[in-house]
Amino acid sequence: MGSVIAGTGMYVPDNVVTNHDLARIMDTSDEWITTRTGVKERRFADRGVGASDLAIEASHRALDAAGVGPSEVDVVVTATMTPDYMAPGIAGLVQEGLGLGHIAAFDLRQQCSGFLYGLDLADSLLTSARGEVALVVGAEVHAGFQPWSEASWQAVLGDGGSEIPREDYERNSRYRSWSVIFGDGAGAMVLRKSDNDVEGVLASSLHTDGASFELIMVPGVGSKSRPYVSSEQIEADTHLPVMDGGGLYRRAVRLMPEAARAVATKAGISLEDIDLIVAHQANDRITEGVRRQFKMDPQKVPSNIGGYGNTTAGTLPILFHELREAGRVNPGSLICFAAFGAGAHYGALLYREPASP
Ligand code: UT7
Repeated sequence: MGSVIAGTGMYVPDNVVTNHDLARIMDTSDEWITTRTGVKERRFADRGVGASDLAIEASHRALDAAGVGPSEVDVVVTATMTPDYMAPGIAGLVQEGLGLGHIAAFDLRQQCSGFLYGLDLADSLLTSARGEVALVVGAEVHAGFQPWSEASWQAVLGDGGSEIPREDYERNSRYRSWSVIFGDGAGAMVLRKSDNDVEGVLASSLHTDGASFELIMVPGVGSKSRPYVSSEQIEADTHLPVMDGGGLYRRAVRLMPEAARAVATKAGISLEDIDLIVAHQANDRITEGVRRQFKMDPQKVPSNIGGYGNTTAGTLPILFHELREAGRVNPGSLICFAAFGAGAHYGALLYREPASP
């Protein structure tokens, strides 16, 4: 007995920032970013637009696709590492923005694995009779993490003519290793409880390796500090992420396939039976590493990082939505969702698309 995906939706902001745009504000190039990551362009939300706004847009689309009205949703799960505010999370904003009524609303902080954890949680709630319909949404606005000055933002979002001060260029270049890989976006799924044992969510295998916590984190701003945010922290840039790209890379390539194998074993299916691995998009070379390990046809481990960069909790639902729209998810298709990210949280979930809608 697993839940089925009744509808999907996505939303990305209109502002497209190409690698060439980034090369105007830091020491990087389209060639470096493309060959090392696969990213060609990403979207960034306007000032004043938060993760909840993107989540609401994506959710509207998923609800429409599912033919589900707001009053029919029993529970909502939102996943983001970039909430509109330090507290509370975005679940209440999404619940109110969609007019869902006073239902249960969960916030998850599992970063790149946030949507995967959300899917599993929502499925568990539905299969334990807590409701009939769940909305799961992953949304990120990484724009706020960028260390860019107003002049830098104008240069990437404007007509390309603006020059930025030398010190801005140097500062932007210091953070280039992570700043070029992230982008903004949201994806949502409507889950409906199903009584069919052989379709919908079949099994999951979720894990956490807290020993890898420091591989990517925001070291400043939090309850260990007095006050929790200070001008000294901002001065020292500890409000910006720090990332050990190589350490993450090596773990992602090992642990996503490991989780996929574990979930396949749990469900008693062979890896060859999987039609699509919908894997987190942190770097195209990581996706390629997953393909190599499984000796899979590249088509079965699709990539869309070129258009969006790493949208963290938004990635899995955006990729799945695009695959569905492209007719790549057919009745009976066996899908493996897999993710790895900050925390370090990782895992995999197996899903069988219903034989009939
Ligand atoms: O989902 C969130 C978790 N994040 C990840 O999973 C990230 C996983 N890791 C990665 O995607 C890759 O490690 C990165 C894309 C972050 C970095 O790629 P890399 O091949 O591991 O590069 P590197 O860090 O070893 O750096 C190689 C060189 C360095 O120069 P030197 O020291 O060899 O002269 C860097 O300074 O590339 C330089 N570099 C850049 N050059 C141009 C780093 N970033 C850039 C850049 N443009 N944006």
